[in-house]
Amino acid sequence: MAVLVTGGAGYIGSHMVLALLDRGEQPIVLDNLSTGRRDLIPAAALVIEDEAGDQLLVRRLIRENGVDSVVHFAGSIVVPESVARPLDYYANNTVVSRALVEACIQEGVENFIFSSTATVYAADAKQPLSEDEPTIPISPYARSKLMTEWMLQDTSRAHGLRAMSLRYFNVAGADPKGRTGQSTPMATHLIKRACQVALGRAPYLDIFGTDYPTPDGTGIRDYIHVCDLVAGHLLALDALRAGAESATYNVGYGRGLSVREVVRGVEAVIGRPLPVRESPRRAGDPPVLISDPSRIKAALGWQPQLDDLPGIIRSALNWEQRLAS
Ligand code: UD1
Repeated sequence: MAVLVTGGAGYIGSHMVLALLDRGEQPIVLDNLSTGRRDLIPAAALVIEDEAGDQLLVRRLIRENGVDSVVHFAGSIVVPESVARPLDYYANNTVVSRALVEACIQEGVENFIFSSTATVYAADAKQPLSEDEPTIPISPYARSKLMTEWMLQDTSRAHGLRAMSLRYFNVAGADPKGRTGQSTPMATHLIKRACQVALGRAPYLDIFGTDYPTPDGTGIRDYIHVCDLVAGHLLALDALRAGAESATYNVGYGRGLSVREVVRGVEAVIGRPLPVRESPRRAGDPPVLISDPSRIKAALGWQPQLDDLPGIIRSALNWEQRLAS
């Protein structure tokens, strides 16, 4: 049995590939390397540099490698970019997912895990967000992801494929063994950007929006260590293989941190002030996203192991240092 990992050379995907290898599984990475890096993947995993929406290729990979499960990370993830280039997001996220799901159904794949997002919820949904809160996404990125969730719900009612959509909150940090991390040079993630500033690779950190309706005026997010997120995927995979029904789960810690709190966290780790610049809000950014992770804990037995901001920051800083060397 092999696991097809689309986007497996990317930030979260490469952590998943390592976790699969660590437990003796055979991952097949399908990644167009637009943002991913082949050198993050150990030689033990097959890497195919191509498109996740190429149905003939995907069908062949499934058949030739005995793929029983697909984990679909490939996609575009930057909210403001999606506001500027919506059709690219619908093409690269929704249309590619449709082709991939169809190829899976045609080949009889039964287990599918999808990277969804916390940004699908309505702006006025009750925080912390349970999966039952209404979904009214405000960015093309979030809409492109929610459409894929719907597609998976509909197809799993009609076909043998069962799907778990995991709604990620803000993923941060890096492999504690230093084997992989966030490697996109133009990454927009707050903790990655803050680490780049801490290492002198950028002159200052922009604080995007200081007039949000939050206690200190800056955006609040639920930052989760990438390895805890990946552990959720392994549990989802095991549950699907054991016959679990399709489901949607939040994956976050259930606590919110403001941009200023993250800045203070970075300052505490590096022991000096971080240069910041107060800037206008970024397009498409909601003020607060905090998860209620009760459902995944109860259904899959997920228990975070790395819920510690200084630890997340240290692992991200270590990786950032390694990238430069
Ligand atoms: C991130 C993910 C998105 C995911 C969402 C789930 C990326 C690129 N985006 O979006 O795919 O669906 O989490 O919650 O991974 N900020 C600054 N300065 C910066 C960068 C960010 O002030 O230089 C602020 C933002 O305005 C926001 C917070 O920090 O309030 C987090 O931003 P970011 O790390 O970019 O993640 P999201 O936009 O929340």
